Amino acid sequence: MADLNGLTFFIKTFGCQMNENDSERIAGLLAAAGARKVERFEDGQVVIVNSCAVRAKSEEKLLSYLGRLGSWKKKRGLVIGLAGCVAQLYREKILVKNPDVDFVVGPDNYHLLPEILSHGLGPKPVITSWACDWNEDERQPFMRESPVSAYVTIMEGCDNFCAYCVVPFTRGREKFRPLRAILGEVASLARDGYKEIQFLGQNVNSYKDPETGALFQDLLKASDDIKGVEWIRFITSHPKNFSGDIAEAMARSKKVCSHLHLPLQSGSTPVLERMKRGYTREDYLGTIRLLRSLMPGISLSTDIIVGFPGETEREFEETMSALEAIRFANIFSFRYSPRPGTAAAKLDDDVPFDVKRRRLLEVQKRQKAIQTEIHKGFIGRTIKVLCLGKSKKDKRIYSGRSEGYQVVNFTSEQNAIGRFVRVRVKDSGPYSLGGDFCEEG
Ligand code: 5AD
Ligand code: SF4
Repeated sequence: MADLNGLTFFIKTFGCQMNENDSERIAGLLAAAGARKVERFEDGQVVIVNSCAVRAKSEEKLLSYLGRLGSWKKKRGLVIGLAGCVAQLYREKILVKNPDVDFVVGPDNYHLLPEILSHGLGPKPVITSWACDWNEDERQPFMRESPVSAYVTIMEGCDNFCAYCVVPFTRGREKFRPLRAILGEVASLARDGYKEIQFLGQNVNSYKDPETGALFQDLLKASDDIKGVEWIRFITSHPKNFSGDIAEAMARSKKVCSHLHLPLQSGSTPVLERMKRGYTREDYLGTIRLLRSLMPGISLSTDIIVGFPGETEREFEETMSALEAIRFANIFSFRYSPRPGTAAAKLDDDVPFDVKRRRLLEVQKRQKAIQTEIHKGFIGRTIKVLCLGKSKKDKRIYSGRSEGYQVVNFTSEQNAIGRFVRVRVKDSGPYSLGGDFCEEG
């Protein structure tokens, strides 16, 4: 067992919730070997940068951060490890362009980090081999950021190869975690006082227990029985795999929140076809109708890409009309960015930058108005909120999330952190609700 006693480390995380959860695992592994986590890179002897490769912009942010670390390294000395999706995608090439990086480790190899840091594995190790199966023993322990809401990874990787998406090249093929291990972790989190669980995976709806063949809806049913945890959410779903059985399991469950993130990407069937998404606009609208018939008032969010190769003005208008028809509670919207190795990278990136920018602004402007209207409808209502901490803007104000995943900022005389409370909503904006503590939730 590696001994890292006396070593201090800092972790910088870019990207999605899966990366956040992986960073919690990296911190847990290093702490278990005796190292101490610090809150600023200036205080660490080692910095692990957990990177994201989903868009070119994510890589640009990483490079500028590596630049900052490089300057510090020259002044004070530092070991820099690159982890995450950029590590897996470019491997040893990273060392050529970024000589300050001391080692490169891909997502399937974090269990080796204590070894790498205690002995080193030769000059500048690059460890990016793929794991074909889930190895539960290599996945523990965690040092979690929140004492209230916990991520639980249930699968990793993706077999879909959407034309724009680099994820299958950074996270490999689908690997599923055994159901009993997932339920064991949820039960132990419940004993530790966690109130909310978020199941994670690139495509959670395709979950299949490698031991029993149980499906995602079975996982939802089984986790409903675990005492203590009150709210269960999951990301990311795929419209192609989001079945009626899953919708019904959500609706029947007492704990699964009335909230779903279901990436649409485009409202145009021909664009969806070029993206190789495996569903049409009508299929997606049908799923939304089913969800709303089973769970009236369900809060829906989505991802949108504008300017995919060949996207015409009319096709773009179909995305705008989908936003209008569905009225999402929240969206994440992006300009298409070609990624290495993907099918779309071979297409001509022919939508001019200015057109992409204008389309993105149009999407965001329309969505902002829709959210403002939806949020106004909450004024005067009393809603259940899980308080996660203090507001980022004003430390006298508490902040949490509603069941529909809206940000709710509220005043309270008593410390509400970690508790369910009822908040009377009295004001709202496009991105949050505001109100006062009413009673314990
Ligand atoms: N360009 C722009 N956006 C992308 N996404 C994934 N790949 C790309 C890309 N190449 C977006 C999708 C996905 C979200 C996580 O990021 O909308 O759902
Ligand atoms: Fe990318 Fe598609 Fe996999 Fe999502 S499902 S990660 S969009 S390839």
